[in-house]
Amino acid sequence: MRKVLYDRFGDEQVLAVRELPTPIIAPTQLLIQVKAASINPLDWKIYRGEMKLMSGSKFPKGAGIDFAGTVAQVGASVTGYQPGDAVFGFLDVFTGGALAEYVVVTEAFIAPKPASISFDQAAALPVTGLAALQIIDQLAAVGPGQEVLINGASGGVGLFAIQLAKLRGARVTAVVGPAGLTPATQLGADAVVDYTKQHLSQLPQRFDTIIDLSDKLPFTVARRLLKPRATFVSMLPSPLGLIGAFFRSLFSGQKHRILILKPTAAGLRDLAALAQNGLQIPVEKVYDLASVRQAYQETSQGKVKGKAVVVLG
Ligand SMILES: NC(=O)c1ccc[n+]([C@@H]2O[C@H](COP(=O)([O-])OP(=O)(O)OC[C@H]3O[C@@H](n4cnc5c(N)ncnc54)[C@H](OP(=O)(O)O)[C@@H]3O)[C@@H](O)[C@H]2O)c1
Repeated sequence: MRKVLYDRFGDEQVLAVRELPTPIIAPTQLLIQVKAASINPLDWKIYRGEMKLMSGSKFPKGAGIDFAGTVAQVGASVTGYQPGDAVFGFLDVFTGGALAEYVVVTEAFIAPKPASISFDQAAALPVTGLAALQIIDQLAAVGPGQEVLINGASGGVGLFAIQLAKLRGARVTAVVGPAGLTPATQLGADAVVDYTKQHLSQLPQRFDTIIDLSDKLPFTVARRLLKPRATFVSMLPSPLGLIGAFFRSLFSGQKHRILILKPTAAGLRDLAALAQNGLQIPVEKVYDLASVRQAYQETSQGKVKGKAVVVLG
C-alpha cells in the first residue's frame, strides 16, 4: 500500500509517498481502506517541527489525521462493524498516518459514515467539525441570544463553528478575508467583517464569545471586545499558553479557554447526526495522492479556503 511518510522535520518537500506492506491488525483493531483523508493546519505544524514538544522527534512519521473509507477487515473482538461498512474517523493527532491506502484503528476512533454525505465530505469532518463542536458546546457554551464573534471564520473550523453557533441560537459575526465573505454569509453569519478592510477594534458591539481561529488575535486585544462576563477561545495549546490562560481567567469574568481536541467516537456520532440534519460540509479542493506536496503547499499558503481533501481510492 502507499502511504505518506517523512524522516525529518521540514517543509512539504520532506513528505514522500512510499510503498509499504498492508498492516496486520490485532483482535481489537479494524483495517480501513481509506477513500479520502483531509488536510489540517495541525499536519503542517507537526511536519515542520513546530509541535515537537508534543509530537516527539521519532521517525518515520505519517501525515494526516482524519479519514473516511470502508472496513476491510475486523479483529476477532470487534463487535460494532463488519467488512464493507462505510466509516469515518481519526488517528492520533501526533502520530498521524491517515494519508495512506490503509489505516489501523480501534472502534473508539471511528463512527458510521452517514449515507447522505460523500467520502470526501466525511473525511473533511472529524478534526475541524469536532473542534467546532467542542468550542461551541463545551468551551464557550454558546446559547440563544449570545453575541459570538468568529475570527478566521472561513477556514475549516470556522465554517462549522458558524453553523453550530447559529444552531444554538446565537447571533454570529464572522471575520474573514475577501474570499470568505460569500461562504460565511451563505452558512448563516448575521454580519461579516473583512479583516483586510476593518480592524476589529472598530467594532461597536461587545461579545459574549470570541473565537480566534487565525492564531493572530491576542487575548489582550480580544478582551476589549468582550462583555464583562464572556469567553475568549484560542487554538494553540502550548504548555506556557495554557498556564497563562489559566491565570488570566482566575480572578476575571472574562475567561480565556484554549482548545485541546478530544477525539471520541461519541463526538463523531454527534457530527454524523448533524450532517444528516443538514450541516453543510463544503469541500473546496480535492487532490490525488501524487499531488500531496502541492496540496500542503497550497493549503498552508492560504490558497484553499475551507477544507481540502486527498483522495486515495
Ligand atoms: N487546539 C486544537 O486541538 C486544534 C484543533 C483543530 C485545529 N486547531 C487549530 O485551529 C486553527 C484553525 O484551524 P482551521 O482548520 O480552521 O484553519 P484554516 O482553515 O487555515 O483557517 C484559518 C483562517 O484564519 C483566517 N485568517 C488568517 N489571517 C487572519 C487575520 N489576520 N484575521 C482574521 N482571520 C485570519 C484565514 O482566512 P484567509 O485565508 O481568508 O486569510 C483562514 O480562514 C489552526 O491553527 C489549527 O491548527 C487546533
